[in-house]
This record gives sequence, structure tokens and C-alpha cells, in this order.
Amino acid sequence: MFEGFGSNKRRKVAPEGESESSKPWVEKYRPKKLDEVAAQDHAVNVLKKTLGSSNLPHMLFYGPPGTGKTSTILALTKELFGPELTKTRVLELNASDERGISIVREKVKNFARLTVSKPSAKDRENHPCPPYKIIILDEADSMTADAQSALRRTMETYSSVTRFCLICNYVTRIIDPLASRCSKFRFKSLDAANALDRLKYIAKEESVDYEEGVLDDILKISSGDMRRAITLLQSAHKRKGLEGSKKITPQEIEEISGLVPNSTIHELAAKIAESNIDEIAEYVNTFMKSGWSVAAVTEQLHNYYLVSDDYGTDFKNKVSWILFNTDSKLTNGTNEHIQLLNLVIQICEIQKNS
Ligand SMILES: Nc1ncnc2c1ncn2[C@@H]1O[C@H](COP(=O)(O)OP(=O)(O)OP(=O)(O)O)[C@@H](O)[C@H]1O
Ligand SMILES: [Mg+2]
Repeated sequence: MFEGFGSNKRRKVAPEGESESSKPWVEKYRPKKLDEVAAQDHAVNVLKKTLGSSNLPHMLFYGPPGTGKTSTILALTKELFGPELTKTRVLELNASDERGISIVREKVKNFARLTVSKPSAKDRENHPCPPYKIIILDEADSMTADAQSALRRTMETYSSVTRFCLICNYVTRIIDPLASRCSKFRFKSLDAANALDRLKYIAKEESVDYEEGVLDDILKISSGDMRRAITLLQSAHKRKGLEGSKKITPQEIEEISGLVPNSTIHELAAKIAESNIDEIAEYVNTFMKSGWSVAAVTEQLHNYYLVSDDYGTDFKNKVSWILFNTDSKLTNGTNEHIQLLNLVIQICEIQKNS
């Protein structure tokens, strides 16, 4: 069989038999069945029907990070084939694998055209074991357009024995002819109620002690990204163990989240309002020394100004334009210090003129 890649990738990272307690919680609490996938009712219901009929279209999963796309397809393949047959029937490639055009031409095509292996009697009893293989192309938006183009024929030619599942964050980066060959499933950010239930469940299983409001804070910070929420909870729990304190507090969450404390954002806004350039330069200096990420400040200033009722529409428009420019420059890797100074001084100017 194809050695060196394939469905066992994840198991190599966390081999079977490895103790559950040494796994990061995101893996430990990865939904193992479709029923455990929270908040994606539409996708889950449609996929469950296909379990019954054994008929599966090519699929395209898209949506923001940490919303259950990878978990859903892994759970689906397990339910379809069972743990044993999955090894020969599922090929999973993600962004860490080379997926240029040559790989699509060779490995994907070779796997796609293989005839399907026979399920054992035991597997047939417990799982639908439909007569096709599944190729999962995770993070497909990072594949080149050429590689995507090369997939078109393969998808059609071998559709009698192979189904594809493409997964991505940005559906617009999947070329139209591929998208149109797939049933699309949109994964939405987890809503507060579902995310809270899941987080409470994990906290209970792991005997996490926390003060009131901590879980809500975590959810606010992670804005619908369940992976981020679970990781944050685990970091807070670990840290608590190290420091010997009793319960996780909202302050601790604020500290480890990488976000700038609200009090600092308010201070910065106050400095901007005073518009004393020397003081601002001094403040930005000190601020940079404390090691905060300027990208985080940009996002938080965005929330601060744009959500507030204290500012008019014209002011908000101009500020968002500056924030947008700063954000895109930061993404391109420009100097953080200069960007922050520039951002703050420009907001000063707008405030003076409005
Ligand atoms: N809908 C969900 N229900 C329950 N847990 C979830 C859900 N979505 C995400 N999680 C948790 O977050 C972790 C990451 O989820 P997953 O890998 O499926 O995200 P993804 O949508 O593939 O994200 P990315 O786009 O970054 O690849 C899972 O291991 C699980 O613990
Ligand atoms: Mg994923």
C-alpha cells in the first residue's frame, strides 16, 4: 500500500494505545461520532442520511477554523468503515503533505483508481462499508490552482470507486469547476450555547475548578473557534496546577489569552484623546516593551471604537480605514512599533478634526 502517507497520519501523531491523559484536550475531546459534533446540525443530519443509504456525493466542507470540519469527516469515515477498514479505504492529505500537481497526478490518482478492498464479515455486520474509498484533502485552499485543476478529471473518472472530501476555510479559493462537482457543507462558528455545553462537559471530565464567568470569557475570546476555547481552558488549568492556586479566575484567562487587557486599551484611547504627541510616543515605547502583539491591539481598538456609541459614523468610517491599513501592513510583515505609532497618531488627527 502507499507507505508514508494516508489515513494513518493522525494516528502516527497520537498512536493508538497512547494514554488518553497525555493527549492535548483538543484531540482527546475530538468528536468520535457524528452525534458528538456540536452545533453543525445541518451538515450532520445530511451526512447521517448518507450513512443509511450508503450513497455519498463528493463533498466540500468550508467554514472558519475550529468548527469541526476535520472532526466531522474523520467521524463519518469511522462510522462508514469502522476502524480497521478505514486504514485501507481512506486517504487523508493535509497542508503538511506536498500536494502540488505531481502528487495529484500520481498518489491521489493511484489511490483513486485502486479497486476497493473487501470488508471482513465483522466490519460488514457493524458498519455500512459502502463500496468506495474516500480521499480527504484537508486545507484544500492551500492547494495550487493547477493542482486543483488536475483533480477535475480524476474526480470524474474514478467516481465509481472513490469519493472526495475537500475541506477549506475559504471556499472562494477553491476553483469553480471543483466546487461545482461537490455538495457543499457550510460549518458555522459555534454559537455560545453549544460551545458552552461542550466546554462545561470537558471541564467536568477533567475536574477543572473555575470561577463564575470564566467559561463565558473563554468563549468571548475564542469567538466561535472551539479549538481555541479548549486550548485556552487547558492552558489555564495547567498553569493553575503550577501556581497552586485553587480556581481559574477571569483575570488569568485575560492574561494567557494573548489579548491586551481592557484597562490598557482604555488607557491608550485616553492618550489618543489627549493628543499630546510626545506622551503618545512615550506610551507606545513602553507599550512595545511589554511585548503585546500589535495585531491584537488593532483588533481590540476596532472593537473599542466601532462598538461604542460615543463616536459618530464618520469617525468610525475613518478609523476602520486606518485599522484596515494597519492590519494589512502588519500581515505583510512591517515594523510593529512604527505601525502602532502611525495608527495612534492618525486616529489622533481624525479625532482633532471631527
Ligand atoms: N462542532 C464541534 N463539536 C465539538 N467539538 C468541536 C467542534 N468543532 C471543533 N471542536 C473541537 O475543536 C477541535 C478542532 O476541530 P477540527 O479539527 O474539526 O476543526 P476544523 O474545522 O477542521 O478547523 P480548521 O479549519 O482549523 O482545520 C476538535 O478536536 C474538537 O475538540
Ligand atoms: Mg481541519
